[in-house]
Amino acid sequence: MSSRLPVFPWDRLEPYKATAAAHPDGIVDLSVGTPVDPVPGLIREALVAAADSPGYPTVWGTPALRDALVDWVGRRLGATGAGHRNVLPVVGSKELVAWLPTQLGLGPGDRVAYPRLAYPTYEVGARLCGATPEVYDDPTELDPAGLKLLWLNSPSNPTGRVLAKDELIRIVAWARRHGVLIFSDECYLELGWEAEPVSVLHPEVCGGTYEGLVAVHSLSKRSNLAGYRAAFIAGDEAVLGELLAIRKHGGMMVPSPVQAATVAALGDDVHVAEQRARYAARRAALRTALEGHGFRIEHSEASLYLWATRDESCWETVARLAGLGILVAPGDFYGEAGERFVRVAFTATDERVDAAVKRLADAG
Ligand SMILES: Cc1ncc(COP(=O)(O)O)c(C=O)c1O
Repeated sequence: MSSRLPVFPWDRLEPYKATAAAHPDGIVDLSVGTPVDPVPGLIREALVAAADSPGYPTVWGTPALRDALVDWVGRRLGATGAGHRNVLPVVGSKELVAWLPTQLGLGPGDRVAYPRLAYPTYEVGARLCGATPEVYDDPTELDPAGLKLLWLNSPSNPTGRVLAKDELIRIVAWARRHGVLIFSDECYLELGWEAEPVSVLHPEVCGGTYEGLVAVHSLSKRSNLAGYRAAFIAGDEAVLGELLAIRKHGGMMVPSPVQAATVAALGDDVHVAEQRARYAARRAALRTALEGHGFRIEHSEASLYLWATRDESCWETVARLAGLGILVAPGDFYGEAGERFVRVAFTATDERVDAAVKRLADAG
């Protein structure tokens, strides 16, 4: 089975990680993009208060969790008319992305499409069930025959690009005309910097009905909860009902303490604003330092990454930065079209970001 899958890309970065780690002042790891700031106190308290959870949780989640999900999609995405049947918790969004095509019953002969530059797990999900993965520049140029699942990702990993409301409206209309199911991965929606990301569930995009549309959301980045595995999907109740039935058989339950923590996290906007402010400062500092070091930044109007190029092979850039003790992700991890870019995450502590900025400045 694993032979169906590409080489695990991060293994290829190991030699550069060793080089960066040998820097006398230590590595600045801007590669994976894993949160480093503390889990907010109110979320930890909710987790601890639910620590005595001897019974099995349910796949659909507690009514309190479903209420919190419904409230949040209404408040934050502007979604109207959502109820419990329009939400479903998942065990972090990566497992959903990887296993969705299988759980939708897709297989050989079916096509799954995703952006030309994308989070690698969309392709993995297609390959796991034997479907054909396909990349697009504009999804409305795809042949709809046999196209069973269309992934959108705005804000994008790795480029930080945001799809404008008009583009979403056009894509949703096309997909509905051709009966193509859209899953919209919106896990960076709360991290817009020079753009205001819009959900496919926004009434102006979906027209007030969720038919054929599902949005994917994660608390990993907005609430520093990558270690908790807290995410959910929202949208078309027929699709969610089918997934719920399958996931119940598969035992894909979010642990009860994490469900309680998610309720607390979604009910609070203060920690999200605080975390955004941390990232905004790191982003500004890194952006200036990279530009001073001869980089050009493209897109990057949202998300946790700067999509940067020195107009050379990404591996040359990775090697150059590793020599300064800075580790970044080569753009070709996200598709061949990224071969002259690197993805620079701003998920490092202020102290480590300052170190990177100083090293870039000193190297001129
Ligand atoms: C676009 C995208 N989708 C999904 C995920 C998975 O996030 P998680 O499994 O932590 O919810 C990531 C993680 O980096 C991502 O970049």
